[in-house]
Amino acid sequence: LNNGLALTPPMGWSTWNVFHCEYTEVDIMEMADMLVTSGMLSAGYKYLNIDDCWEASERDPISGMLKYNETKFPHGILALADYIHSKGLLFGIYSSSGEKTCKKYPGSWQHEFLDAALFSSWNIDFLKLDCCFQDNIKDRATAYITWSKALSIQNRSILFSCDTDELLLNENNLEFPFQWAPEYCNMARIWGDIDDEWESTLRISDRATNIYYASQPGYWNDLDILTVGLGKQTIDEYTAQFSLWAIISSPLIAGNDLRIMKKEIANILTNKEVIAINQDKLCRSGNMFQRAFDGSYEIWAKPIHYENMSHFYDQNRTLSFSPLPFHAVVLLNQLNVTINITFEFNQLFGNNLSPHQPTPTWTVFIRDLWLHQDLGEFVDTWTAINVSAHGVR
Ligand code: GLA
Repeated sequence: LNNGLALTPPMGWSTWNVFHCEYTEVDIMEMADMLVTSGMLSAGYKYLNIDDCWEASERDPISGMLKYNETKFPHGILALADYIHSKGLLFGIYSSSGEKTCKKYPGSWQHEFLDAALFSSWNIDFLKLDCCFQDNIKDRATAYITWSKALSIQNRSILFSCDTDELLLNENNLEFPFQWAPEYCNMARIWGDIDDEWESTLRISDRATNIYYASQPGYWNDLDILTVGLGKQTIDEYTAQFSLWAIISSPLIAGNDLRIMKKEIANILTNKEVIAINQDKLCRSGNMFQRAFDGSYEIWAKPIHYENMSHFYDQNRTLSFSPLPFHAVVLLNQLNVTINITFEFNQLFGNNLSPHQPTPTWTVFIRDLWLHQDLGEFVDTWTAINVSAHGVR
């Protein structure tokens, strides 16, 4: 969506994964404070998004306007937005294009322009639009287009996050969100809801294979709110999830309780070198380029801009080593035992060679962005020793 927003993948925090429907304005204000004091805001997480269940159970019978739950928000949504903005954060809200939201609060069906104006009067910066209770498949597609228009005529810049599910029918064609949404949305979900379990990470990243070309400044394939730090997975599993979301250029929307965030979780979510891969200004999205025949590992790569690797330049701004383009690479161990993974450089760099060309010698300089260490120069292959179960290098 060409509205000047989401030029790199959006970053923020959402209520859904940790609170579901159980939260009040006090929780949100505490989370706003924590975004600032935990270092999340300075790492780039600037949107604070309220998901479903902020609504009152009915629209106003006279004006037809949506209402907020006054028990949860005794001071009102506008006051909360002011508080969030006073912290240097941006404010996101949620609705559904259907008759109801997924948790059965009033949805926005046929109230698109009224609701967009209301949200704008509440000074929102971000809208996540779900599609629950939108049973007519054709209406589903058109509702996102209508909403895109409704948001564009407000006098605020509002990032449009489309929770589209995996599939929409558009006219007579089967079209997936990554095919139609880039024109209307700043981000669109590519698959169903994430769960705090390893299989969920694999299911969603698998769905993200080969759709990298859709992501571009203004639109990003959305792998869903991160489960990092929710508590049911290992640190290695959370590190792997964050690495995949980063290399695939998914929006990075954290979903953990920041008030009880442990140091090792903060170290994942605020790893500046990994975030720089996600936010890289070449704006390409990563893809899987190699999968072990036995399913034990995958290797993902994303071309990145040289600037982020400025320490590789000498004083004359020339590269101090081989002229191959920079890539971020994730070696992912899918097994629940420790394995070694060998990365053969020709698998990544040999793509454009003609079949008759002899395989050249590839000399590659490697830096480990989790250890924050330059590993040095390697010829033709590099083997990651002891990649932990469900872990990455
Ligand atoms: C759907 C969405 C979730 C969340 C809930 C809220 O399931 O996919 O991300 O917004 O609705 O009810």
